Amino acid sequence: MSGDRLVSALLARRQDQPPAVERIRLPAPGPGEVRVRIRAAGVCHSDLAMIDGTLAPSFPLVLGHEAAGVVTDVGPGTDRVSGGEHVVLNWSPACRTCWHCAAGRPWFCDTSGRPSSARGTTADGEALHVTLGLGALAEEIVVPRHAVIPVPAELPFEEAALLGCAVLTGVGAVRNTARVTAGESVVIIGLGGVGLSAVLAARDAGAGRIVAVDVAESKRGPAMAAGATDFLVSDGGLVRAVRSLTDGRGADHAFECVGRGKTIETAWRSVRRGGGVIVVGMGARDDLISLSALDVFHSGRVLRSSVYGAADPDRDVPLLARDVLAGTLDVSPLITHRISLAEAPSAVDRLVRGEGARSVVSF
Ligand code: APR
Ligand code: ZN
Repeated sequence: MSGDRLVSALLARRQDQPPAVERIRLPAPGPGEVRVRIRAAGVCHSDLAMIDGTLAPSFPLVLGHEAAGVVTDVGPGTDRVSGGEHVVLNWSPACRTCWHCAAGRPWFCDTSGRPSSARGTTADGEALHVTLGLGALAEEIVVPRHAVIPVPAELPFEEAALLGCAVLTGVGAVRNTARVTAGESVVIIGLGGVGLSAVLAARDAGAGRIVAVDVAESKRGPAMAAGATDFLVSDGGLVRAVRSLTDGRGADHAFECVGRGKTIETAWRSVRRGGGVIVVGMGARDDLISLSALDVFHSGRVLRSSVYGAADPDRDVPLLARDVLAGTLDVSPLITHRISLAEAPSAVDRLVRGEGARSVVSF
C-alpha cells in the first residue's frame, strides 16, 4: 500500500518465546496520527510481562512502550505537533472526556489499559499488534497524536525515553501518590528503572531515611548513586532491619516496585502505624496477598496503588524534562546498558535475571 514502510522491530511471536528483531510493515499516518522515528527506547519490566504470561496481549506483538524520537510525518488534521519536533511517547494518552479524565485522573482513563492493539503487519502480511498502543522498540512507529508529548530538542534521547515510563511512574508514585515530604522515611523495594526513579524522587523530596531494597546485591551501587541512605538485600530479616533504621516504628511510606504479592506483604509490615504502602509494580492476576484483618484495623496503614505514577503525562513529562535539563533530576543511575536494537533480546533476558536497571536501545 502507498506510504507503507518496512522497518526493524523487536517482535514476540507468542507467549514464552524469546523475542527477535524482524522487519515489520507500518502504514502511513492516517487522520490524527503521527509517524515518529524512534531514537531511543528503554526495555521495561512490563515488556517482559507481555511475554511471560502476566498479561495476555495479542501476538505477534511489537514490544516497547518507553521511548523518544522525532516526528517525521503528520496525518491530516494533526495540529498538536509538526515534523521535526522531539517527542516522548505516552502509553496512556487520555481521552479528556470520560468520567475519570473529567475528574482530573487521566491515568484511569476509560480508553487506556489494553495491553495490545492492532497496527500494521509482519513483513509477510500477517496482522500485527503493538504493546500498550505503541510498540516502541522499532525504528519507527505510527501513533495517535495524543500519544506524543513534545520535549525540548536539547534533551538527550536516552534520558527522554525514560521519562515516558520508568521515571514518570517512580517519581509520580513518590510525588503524586504518597506526597513524600522532607524528613519522612521511605523504603523502596525493587530497584529496576521504576524503583530507582522512586529513590531519585525521595531524595529530591528531602526524605530523611531512604532505605533501598533488592534481592540483588548488584543494585547497591545504582541505589546509592540515586540517593539512597541505606541498601538492604531482601531476606527474612528485612522487616526488622527496616524498623531498626526507622526508630523501631517502621517507615512512613513503602513503595513496592517489583509486582509480587509477597513483596506487597513485606512492604505492609515495613511501615509504621498509619503509614502508607504504595503498590507501583504490576503483579499477576492470580498472585494473592494475605493480610490479617485485625492488623489492617489496628495498624491504620493505607494500601494504595500508583498507576502510571498518578501522573498527567502531558503536564508532568515537560516538567521532568525541565528538571533533567536543569540538572536537578539526574536519571543516569537508571541506565546500566546502552545497546543496539540487535542486542535488545539480551536486555529482556537481563530483566528475567534481575540484572542491571534500564537497558536503553539507541537507534
Ligand atoms: N524483593 C526485592 N526485590 C526484588 C524481588 C524481591 N522479592 N524480586 C525481584 N526484585 C527486584 C529485581 O532484582 C529488580 O532489581 O526488583 C527489580 C525489578 O526491576 P525491573 O525488572 O527492572 O522492573 P521495572 O521495569 O523497574 O518495573 C518494576 O513496575 O511498572 C511496573 O511492570 C513493572 O512490575 C514492574 C515494576
Ligand atoms: Zn514500562
